[in-house]
Amino acid sequence: MTPGSTTPPSAGARSVTVRVPAKVNVQLAVGPPRPDGFHDLANVFLAVGLYDEVTATEADDLRVTVSGPDAAAVPADATNLAARAAQALAARHGRETNVHLHIAKDIPVAGGMAGGSADGAGALLACDKLWGTGTGTDELLRICAELGSDVPFSLVGGAALGRGRGERLTPLSAKGPLHWVFAVADGGLSTPEVYAEFDRLAAGRPVPEPDPSPAVLDALGSGDPAALAAALTAIDGGNDLQPAALSLRPSLAATLDAGTAAGALAALVSGSGPTCAFLTADEPAAEAVAAALESSGTCRGARVARAPAPGAAVVG
Ligand code: C5P
Repeated sequence: MTPGSTTPPSAGARSVTVRVPAKVNVQLAVGPPRPDGFHDLANVFLAVGLYDEVTATEADDLRVTVSGPDAAAVPADATNLAARAAQALAARHGRETNVHLHIAKDIPVAGGMAGGSADGAGALLACDKLWGTGTGTDELLRICAELGSDVPFSLVGGAALGRGRGERLTPLSAKGPLHWVFAVADGGLSTPEVYAEFDRLAAGRPVPEPDPSPAVLDALGSGDPAALAAALTAIDGGNDLQPAALSLRPSLAATLDAGTAAGALAALVSGSGPTCAFLTADEPAAEAVAAALESSGTCRGARVARAPAPGAAVVG
């Protein structure tokens, strides 16, 4: 493939643009390590309204470019999940991967919000439309699962329970809008390292099989943020990876405290972190929590987003 740059796609050629949401794990119950190195999960995914846009444009060769404030932190090469998605789809249909993928990045990079997975799902859908390959949803979901544990959810969005390593999805009812705030940290955390830290912290103790909390699922269905916050408190915050993320990045405790002091109903590390997620009562509360986080000096910035958000969708 041709090395990427940060330039947008060339004008004139046919292109398709897909918008894909970020996610927060409202609950992330983690089981013991499996023989294949992954962990069985009960992963309550919720798509939130922060989006990347992936544009697939006809080209002579596979090329990836990235724009946005954190573009330099995104690999514009064959390791990018967007490139791997295009290659997987092309291989399925026995065709060339002659496409330029441009990622307009707004989801925090390596932040535990599935930004890389979003780009994989977005590229898959964009290439399928551009190439007219007409791949069915089940086949698209199979390719997503090969690309990564969170990629199938990026395609479907909304809210879903992920079992297995997170790729086996059952849709959940989620009423909105729920108003969230996300505190973006300086630098990312590596997902494999956070899972390894989870194993290290759990060594010598039995790890139960992961199950979703019925109270969390009920509260998600009712759309009542206070009930959801209470359900999360009852299960110690909801994210089993949080102690591992805090162990690797102790400064996140101050970020969580700052959002709670500013009135957040619940505060949790998003997935493997280091982004911290805050559930708030309504839009004014979300704006207030974001402003307090911005001035707290405990994070690089804060973003407000509503949930649930739709999955990957063609927008141009
Ligand atoms: O599937 P994905 O590529 O996102 O996983 C990245 C890494 O995160 C895996 O290699 C594994 O170390 C860890 N992981 C895990 N259990 C899961 C999902 C991810 O241990 N259910």
